[in-house]
Amino acid sequence: MCGIVGYIGDKNAATILIEGLRSLEYRGYDSAGIAIVDRRKRLFLLKKAGKLKALSDCLINRHVSGHLGIGHTRWATHGEPNEANAHPHYGNTRDFLIVHNGIIENHHELKQQLRKDGHRFSSQTDTEVAAHLVEKFYKGDLLKAVCRAIGCLKGSFALGVICMHEPDVLVAARKDSPLIIGLGKGENFIASDVPAILSRTRDIIYLDNNEIARISKDEVKVFDAKCREIQKKKVRINWNTDSAEKAGFAHFMIKEIEEQPQVIGRILTHRIKSKQVVFENLNLSRAQLKNITDIQIVACGTAYHAGLCGKYILEKMLRIPINVDTSSEFRYREQIITKGRTLIIPVSQSGETADTLASLRAAKEKGAKILSLCNVVGSSIARESDGVIYTLAGPEISVASTKAYTAQLMTFYLLGLYLAGIKKTIADKTVLNYLSKMKKIPALMRDILKNQKRVKKVAHEYVHRYHYRLAEQFKFLEDEIVQFQDPVKALEFAEKWARLSHSAYGRRFGDFPFLYLGRNVNYPSALEGALKLKEITYISAEGYAAGEMKHGPIALIDEFPLVVCIATKSAVYEKMLSNIREIKARKGTVLSIATRGDKEIQKKEYSNYVLEIPEIDEFFSPLLVALPLQMLAYHIAVGLNCDVDQPRNLAKSVTVE
Ligand code: AGP
Repeated sequence: MCGIVGYIGDKNAATILIEGLRSLEYRGYDSAGIAIVDRRKRLFLLKKAGKLKALSDCLINRHVSGHLGIGHTRWATHGEPNEANAHPHYGNTRDFLIVHNGIIENHHELKQQLRKDGHRFSSQTDTEVAAHLVEKFYKGDLLKAVCRAIGCLKGSFALGVICMHEPDVLVAARKDSPLIIGLGKGENFIASDVPAILSRTRDIIYLDNNEIARISKDEVKVFDAKCREIQKKKVRINWNTDSAEKAGFAHFMIKEIEEQPQVIGRILTHRIKSKQVVFENLNLSRAQLKNITDIQIVACGTAYHAGLCGKYILEKMLRIPINVDTSSEFRYREQIITKGRTLIIPVSQSGETADTLASLRAAKEKGAKILSLCNVVGSSIARESDGVIYTLAGPEISVASTKAYTAQLMTFYLLGLYLAGIKKTIADKTVLNYLSKMKKIPALMRDILKNQKRVKKVAHEYVHRYHYRLAEQFKFLEDEIVQFQDPVKALEFAEKWARLSHSAYGRRFGDFPFLYLGRNVNYPSALEGALKLKEITYISAEGYAAGEMKHGPIALIDEFPLVVCIATKSAVYEKMLSNIREIKARKGTVLSIATRGDKEIQKKEYSNYVLEIPEIDEFFSPLLVALPLQMLAYHIAVGLNCDVDQPRNLAKSVTVE
């Protein structure tokens, strides 16, 4: 979602803002803008639709100086992604400039009110009302004006505000959208996320809800909603910029896929001490955990799939009911929570997902204890939970989540062991057996990554098949045109076909959908495989529990869809084989994810393509199955020339509902 950067100091603000916005590109956006003020109170405002390059290209050979500025990448919610709707926004005059992340829900009413007072609006955004409100309330003190303005806003916001009358002040405020303050020497920053300022400072302050900050180059003061000063803790970031850089890889996604053995190894080293699982920030006593009778997992997207797998893991280890819900559903339904008995586990890479945060708050209000699984340290979900288990994946930049997913899975296995230890639901011998199997996983992952050539080959064959089919369509078009004697009719026909073919191309693989099937603990793997493919290739893909195939999806089967069957050795292996036989009987094309050495599944009557994983206890197999599925999606996306790290319309962290 939208990215915010702000700077005040002695350096060139434009350079710092562009650099910061570049580090926030991963969040997803469709337009960008900056506003810079210099000491002579001159304003430079530039906004562009499209990628950041359009903005930075305009700055080449142009000397833009200024010590104060705000910058923004916009992910459109209200109004299309054009220059007028891009941020920064201003009021009636260009004296007050504002960047915003979030949604101002009552913007309509506010606009009507402001119009009556003579305010004129030049964009379709919800944000613009905030600039007009600040302008309206300004009586010589920007902090106070922002404070009054945000008092009128309903919804969520992270704001950066500057004003031509006070060129030595940057004001920041937040409610339900992330915002941090970076502390430098003789300079200070604001940003939506740490990577935007990490090359400049490691000392940050996390703004909390309803807090507002007055920032000058030498001082940062934070206030509550009533403008009373409060003391905030400074936090030191101890990860470095390398983890937020591509380090020679073509894309962040493949870098993050390749990092998985290292991430899983790190989690195991950190969490297993003397054959015991340890967590440091649980803030829930053993007695409280022992009393838990049911668990509710809430999450979105990939984190939801990890949560679904977590259900299989925890049910097997704890033998208590585990429910999983997408956060956007959970927050609005009747939540059944027994005080002191129900444990809520929100799962989130970013820790900022709006629906997951809202679910957490709803459950907390009903007296539930919250133990979150988060990757980003200090994120809102982490801070608002009773306890947090950090998933230790390191910064994940690619929009498509990979290493954060397997880190969440591994954390569920460890949490299961930890709780089982308290509840005495697994024998000590089994715990040791599990631990020794888990320790082998990084090496097994490495082994899969070594065989990437095979995945590439399968992906390329598939891309080739698609291009071939497209070429056939065009051939058909040519033949039809030749048949027309009337050139006008021929042209009409050609245009129609060009449009159709173009939209087929735009939809990519319209004729070649993917179906992912899995059972039991690998049913969530099927969902995750399908999500990975669709988000980065725009190919239509569905994940299904294989047992559900006969209840609908089998109608899709002919030679065109590719059916990815997760058929590794397990208690449901025979069931998967019988699903595959049913697909093949209908001329289906099957790609099997199989256990190495399985000769049966290699046979033509079962698989057109096979991707192997090494032998592993089926209970832990989702950790390995994820890798070929991620790589398959990645290599198809590369073959189709897709924007792998920043797929269209998607944002890394979804901070609005
Ligand atoms: C994953 O590939 C997606 N981009 C997306 O589904 C993501 O997992 C979801 O938005 C949840 O994000 P979170 O883990 O940061 O809460």
